[in-house]
Amino acid sequence: MSEAQENTQTASMPRILVRGGKPLYGEIKVMGAKNAALKLICASILSSEPVHLTNCPNKIRDLQSLIVLLETFGVSCKLDEDKAWLHAKNITNTRADYDLVRKMRSSILVLGPLLARCHEAQVSLPGGCAIGTRPVDFHIEGLKALGADITLEEGYIIAKAKGGLKGGKYIFPKISHTGTENVMMAATLAKGTTVLANCAREPEVEDLANLLNAMGAKITGAGTPQITIEGVEKLGAATHRVLPDRIETGTYAVAVAMTGGELRLKNARLDLWAAAASKLEKAGATIVEDGHDLIISRDPKTPLNCVDIMTEPFPAFPTDLQAQFMAMLTTSNGAGMVTETIFENRFMHVPELSRMGADITVQGNSALVRGVKELHGAEVMATDLRASVALVLAGLVATGETTVNRIYHLERGYIDICGKLAACGADIERVS
Ligand code: EPU
Repeated sequence: MSEAQENTQTASMPRILVRGGKPLYGEIKVMGAKNAALKLICASILSSEPVHLTNCPNKIRDLQSLIVLLETFGVSCKLDEDKAWLHAKNITNTRADYDLVRKMRSSILVLGPLLARCHEAQVSLPGGCAIGTRPVDFHIEGLKALGADITLEEGYIIAKAKGGLKGGKYIFPKISHTGTENVMMAATLAKGTTVLANCAREPEVEDLANLLNAMGAKITGAGTPQITIEGVEKLGAATHRVLPDRIETGTYAVAVAMTGGELRLKNARLDLWAAAASKLEKAGATIVEDGHDLIISRDPKTPLNCVDIMTEPFPAFPTDLQAQFMAMLTTSNGAGMVTETIFENRFMHVPELSRMGADITVQGNSALVRGVKELHGAEVMATDLRASVALVLAGLVATGETTVNRIYHLERGYIDICGKLAACGADIERVS
């Protein structure tokens, strides 16, 4: 596509217009976690009986893409409001095509369940993405440790387990969130016991283990570095409530810290993002727990202070809140250092924030952010989900109008962000 064609296409796509300067007051209901729901849906492949999810973020685009993929395997999927019914009575196809997988990297999470249940699977390699190369070698090596025979042919992972998977031991060379989940799901139906070490401790891993155990799996240690799975012959039906989305919670918390005001975040949990929450308090926001809600506030007359952040696996500061915090630092007092240790290319929001007047210097995997008096509205775009939302946050405090283009990235992981923020006083709209 020529540059001119690309510009015309961008201009005709939906975008978000934000006119900054309004404090936020009101309440926002936090959705069920995207990065839990996607795996819980994949887990339904493991059982011939129905799985029912509540508090499910059905409207995010990643979830809808995954449902389309599961339907190609013969899984019956019904979505209604925040409920999802999944029934993999018979699996009629074990191939995940490139066209569906390329839309959403987490499609790789069908590999473990398909292989465990059907003893074979062919899943397209997801390829690189905007935030880094993101290989899936740990997923493959982990499944090989369970006896799978895996080859790569013409861009596809061809996996076989004649007679079924067998329990084994695998030590992840580096902590991997979805790698842990893929191998843990596969091990539920393996013969014998599996021990996984150096596992991801993210709350979504634990949520997945809770669903699997409710289906009849025997998993202990999820949420710690070592997970033990005693294989069972088959899994049954279960109903499960998806845990709250800690990244959506953190995103709105940063929003109100930036604009000033007070937000009640309903159905939110502080323990899921404690490391980031303590940085937010250090910067000058107040966080109060009230039953199932969190109340986040900042007096608009009190300025925010810069803080240093470094992304690391859970329970440390999450990479998925790095861009939002960087947006906050751009107008805070002093200077803050942002260090990204999870993904090698997760600073794409920097040039866009700079176009709005931010003062940011990148050196390797660190960015020094010097707070400026104000940002000014501009036309911006981002190439990943969290970078896009950071630009919306910057627009909330910038003078004049900010246009955020290519919002399909944002809609992969947020539901009605404009409606939620506008209901709390923001001057924001989605235009087509
Ligand atoms: N890695 C490998 N080989 C592998 C797997 C991972 O080298 O086989 C590397 C990655 O390249 C990366 C590091 O290990 O440098 C950690 O990656 P991880 O596997 O933990 O990431 P992921 O599982 O692919 C999930 C979330 C991401 C989130 C990260 C980190 C889902 C669907 N995705 O990705 O969410 O940033 O964990 O917590 O759960 C998002 O929601 O915006 C998002 C990107």
